[in-house]
Parts: sequence; C-alpha cells; structure tokens
Amino acid sequence: MDSAFSRTPEQEAAISGWNPPQIDTTKPHSARIYDYFLGGKTNFAPDREAAEQTLSAVPHARTAARANRAFLLRSVDHLARIGVRQFLDIGTGIPVEGRNTHDAAQNIAPESRVVYVDNDPIVLAHARALLTSHADGATTYIDADAHDPDAILAHPALTETLDPDQPLALLLLAILHFVPDEDRPTEILRRLTDRLPSGSHLVLSHLTGDFDPVTTGGGVAVYRKSGIPMQVRSRAEVEALVPQGWDLLEPGVELVSHWRREPGAELPDPAEIGCYGLLARKP
Ligand SMILES: C[S@@+](CC[C@H](N)C(=O)[O-])C[C@H]1O[C@@H](n2cnc3c(N)ncnc32)[C@H](O)[C@@H]1O
Repeated sequence: MDSAFSRTPEQEAAISGWNPPQIDTTKPHSARIYDYFLGGKTNFAPDREAAEQTLSAVPHARTAARANRAFLLRSVDHLARIGVRQFLDIGTGIPVEGRNTHDAAQNIAPESRVVYVDNDPIVLAHARALLTSHADGATTYIDADAHDPDAILAHPALTETLDPDQPLALLLLAILHFVPDEDRPTEILRRLTDRLPSGSHLVLSHLTGDFDPVTTGGGVAVYRKSGIPMQVRSRAEVEALVPQGWDLLEPGVELVSHWRREPGAELPDPAEIGCYGLLARKP
C-alpha cells in the first residue's frame, strides 16, 4: 500500500515536486541508526553497520530506543490531558506511523498544533508524513539546527503555526546527548526557553551511563568512531540542563521506562534502558 511512510525520498520528490535534499548515505546518521533500532526501514548500509556495532557493544539498545519513544508518547499524552495545545519538537527523528508527537497530542486534543524541527535531510525528505494533522489542528516542519535557537524561534513556519504569547511544550527527546559540553547545551536551552511564556513546559530525554558505565561507554565509542558526537550525562548533569527558575515536576529525573508508567507495566532492568526523562515547567 502506498503511504507517506513507505515512500523513498525519490518517490516523495516525484509526488511533491521537490528537489530531493542532499542525503549522504555513505556515512551513518543518528536519526537512521535510531530508525533501525525502532524497526524502521529508512536506513542505509552504513547506518545498519553502525547500529549492529552498537548492538554488539550495547545489546539492549533496541529496548532503550523503544522505551524512549514510548516516553515521548506518554509525556505528550500527559501534557495534552493537562491542557497543553502547542508543541515544539526539536530533533523529531524519522516519522513513525501513528507514533509521532501530533498523533499523541491530537488523540487527546485534535486542535493541537505541532512544529517539528530536525537537521537531517532524510527527516526532511519524509516530513510529509508528519504533516498529516487533524483538520482542527496544524503541523509544520522546519529544517534547522538546534545549535541555532534564534533561527528556529524566528522561523516564519513557527510563528504562523504557534502563538508565541501562549505557553507551549518544548520537546528535546534523545537529542541533547548529541550536543557535547563544548557546544554549550545549557546556553542553547537558555536561548530556546528565555522567551517562552509562563506556563510553558520542557520535556527532555537523555542517555546516561549511570547504570552500566562500561557498556554505555562502548556504545558512545561506536558513535564517535562513526563521526557522531555523543556525550552521555549523569542524573545530576541531566538535571542541571533544566533552565534556571524552572520547576522540575514529579517524578523528577527518572528512567524513561519508569516515568509516569502505566499502572501494572513491567519495569525493565535500569541497565537495559540507560535513558533519563524529565518534565519541567516555567512558573
Ligand atoms: C535519536 S533521534 C530522536 C528522535 C525523537 N526525538 C525521539 O525521541 O523518538 C535524534 C534526532 O535528533 C536529530 N538531531 C541531532 N542533532 C541535531 C541538531 N543539532 N539539530 C537538529 N536535530 C538534530 C537527529 O537528526 C535525529 O533525528
């Protein structure tokens, strides 16, 4: 069946009339490695090779990726239930059918509006699959780098889709471990959040080596060898990313699998997850 989820970038280009973005398939990319872990098909031989090397070093990487995506859906569902209607999702990743931010938000509140941002051309090539908003809401996609918050916040697609005077939820899921300290992630967060109105939320997830430093270190080494900068952070370092003055909401910095888990859900071994999640609010 033809669907925006199964088309190649070239098919997308033929349908939409776009020029296909330049996609370097000779080098592994974090979005496509993650897609492989989630069981997707939008990945190439070098991505699969890096993913398999990661799985040799970190056999539970697939479990961690799935737990992170489930955290994304649970946190957005929670935010929609408490009244959040605007979402800015930076580091969107390759779309997953029925399991994207707007799917979770519009399932609760069809009028929800979502702006997606990623800097990977292959995510851009598949962005049409993210633009499947409920008619009452809206979704848009911006091709931009998280290192340039001002360009994201001033982008016309953002200002046309979100009301900057109303609170929004900023989602940074599984992206900040690709921003090492020398790229000043705290400064990036400050610039992204300074202008947000009171009542805005921040959702963050981040890989950690706290539960199995040796195995995690092996995984980090594979990414770095593939040319992808990666820095895992401790619980205290993840908590320190929360902008000054923001309230860290219950249950605090928690494993993504444990954060507001479904009642009765089985709890995996923390060493198999190695990824923290948190929710914070600007007072
Ligand atoms: C591991 S995926 C996470 C996808 C999704 N947020 C999730 O948690 O399921 C990380 C995504 O961040 C994107 N990314 C990495 N560095 C980025 C940057 N500097 N600016 C924008 N996107 C970035 C990658 O292209 C990739 O799509």
